[in-house]
Amino acid sequence: MKKLLVLFLALVASSASVFAKGGGDAAGGLPTIGVAIYRFDDTFMSATRNAIQQNAANVATLRVVDSQNTQPTQNDQVDQFIAQKVRSMAINPVDRTAAGTIVDKAKAANIPIVFFNREPEKADMAKWEKVYYVGAKAEDSGTYQGQIIADYWKAHPEADRNGDGVLQYIMLKGQAGHQDAELRTEYSIKAVTAAGIKVEKLAEDIANWQVSEATDKMSAYIANFGDRIEAVFCNNDDMALGAIQALKNAGYFGADGKYVPVVGVDATAPGLQALAEGTLLGTVLNDAANQGKATFELAYALAAGKDVRATSWTITDGKYVWVPYQKVTKENYKQFQN
Ligand code: GAL
Ligand code: CA
Repeated sequence: MKKLLVLFLALVASSASVFAKGGGDAAGGLPTIGVAIYRFDDTFMSATRNAIQQNAANVATLRVVDSQNTQPTQNDQVDQFIAQKVRSMAINPVDRTAAGTIVDKAKAANIPIVFFNREPEKADMAKWEKVYYVGAKAEDSGTYQGQIIADYWKAHPEADRNGDGVLQYIMLKGQAGHQDAELRTEYSIKAVTAAGIKVEKLAEDIANWQVSEATDKMSAYIANFGDRIEAVFCNNDDMALGAIQALKNAGYFGADGKYVPVVGVDATAPGLQALAEGTLLGTVLNDAANQGKATFELAYALAAGKDVRATSWTITDGKYVWVPYQKVTKENYKQFQN
């Protein structure tokens, strides 16, 4: 009897201490995890957010916030997560160079962080051992885009509209400084030249991952360069869809067969739809389902004080989970539609 009483008291004491430090645990005893997305109004990030939420169902309580493309807003949100004593945080930075400040705050409060989609600088990742990153190797997505265009160019001699043996192209970039924007821009063209094709850049501009900005920029380029445009590289599908809209407005993809190859990245639902319709030549799967799953599973392990190596994800350099990209063309796009 006495033994039982001691056991009972020990249990009360331990659960009391859990409650004392676990202010972030919502009713039902699930751990609370703070999730900040750079902006909700982004097609690919919406898919990633959905994946995080699906994986958290009945496992953890999420506080998911929209940072509205403003770093100071996100910094305030991180302060609130800390005040709410969340058990861990999953952060998609607005400005990836601002990650260091977030790490400092998290470290001071001993709340582990998983960054995702926007890769912090190495020095910021190294500031604390409880900092991780889930993403994809941006170089690969660029390389796949370039290969898709190179294959098309080789199979279609008429793609060289002016017959000068040089591929004249337009580049639409995502946000400046974003690793995906910089590296896709660089590696897509590298893959084309590596295939032995000469290139000439007609124009390059930032369209911030957005459909409407891409339509505006592309309309201006069509007015400027007209038939000289022989390919359009876009850092993501939304900008490719915007460029396609501008091309449609200018009479492309219609009954007379006027065509120019356009490539994107993400393989979003509307991107795959455009591939099915024959307007988008190709894209690259940016695996939102697995990036979201990995982000959640790491954040959950950390929330429970577990070693992330106990998850099924391969952790590279002690801190990184790399989810592979896949080339998507009209040969295989159906397997990515759901
Ligand atoms: C990229 C993606 C873009 C955009 C961006 C946001 O990986 O290809 O469409 O969502 O992330 O950071
Ligand atoms: Ca040419």
